[in-house]
Amino acid sequence: MRISVAIDGPAGAGKSTIAKLVGKEFNLMYINTGAMYRAVALKSKENNLSPKDIDKICDLISSMEMHFENDDLILNNENIQDEITLPEISSIVSSYASIAEVRSKLVKLQRDMSNKFDVIMDGRDIGTVVLKNASFKFFLTATPEERANRRYKELKDRNIECSYDEILKDIKSRDYKDTHRDIDPLRKAHDAIEIDTTGLNISEVTEKINSYIRQKL
Ligand code: C5P
Repeated sequence: MRISVAIDGPAGAGKSTIAKLVGKEFNLMYINTGAMYRAVALKSKENNLSPKDIDKICDLISSMEMHFENDDLILNNENIQDEITLPEISSIVSSYASIAEVRSKLVKLQRDMSNKFDVIMDGRDIGTVVLKNASFKFFLTATPEERANRRYKELKDRNIECSYDEILKDIKSRDYKDTHRDIDPLRKAHDAIEIDTTGLNISEVTEKINSYIRQKL
């Protein structure tokens, strides 16, 4: 039977950092579903498509081959990981991610990946929608200020100009949009284990998850 691990939570809760480490420990393919929504936002922006241009966005998605290599998203043979994590994409992605047609196309691609490989997948609706029957479900949280601080440091380390206040504003606005949208909003699955990562470092959170998985396997 395939193993699947679902990690959900708001922006900046540490999902991707932790998912990569847990994935290495248990030899799981890491699927960053946020990266897939970001890729749709990036390509829509490049093609001047607003979130209202639903048919054209769907055509665009049909022309997008997405897979992951070394935890990075490869789109039509190009590694676009750096581009999609820029603040200008963070600020528009939720508007594209709230389109029902976009979600159903991406959820299908994500389920196809989980049928082919043992996966650890992070996002907003993994435990509630994409992998309802996941072997393990976790929900990571942290205060908005701590999450903004982590993102700020991450961008500064990459020498990307940014302001803490702007990042905090973006995180709060995405939290609101992601939890209030009509389709598959961000919420904790009833059977997910919630971990508040405020004040915990990466290895403390990773070890909590690893030991839980080890115990059950
Ligand atoms: O995880 P990340 O912060 O990169 O996700 C970017 C955005 O993509 C989220 O703010 C959310 O709007 C959207 N998203 C989603 N469902 C997912 C993953 C991400 O709606 N499973």
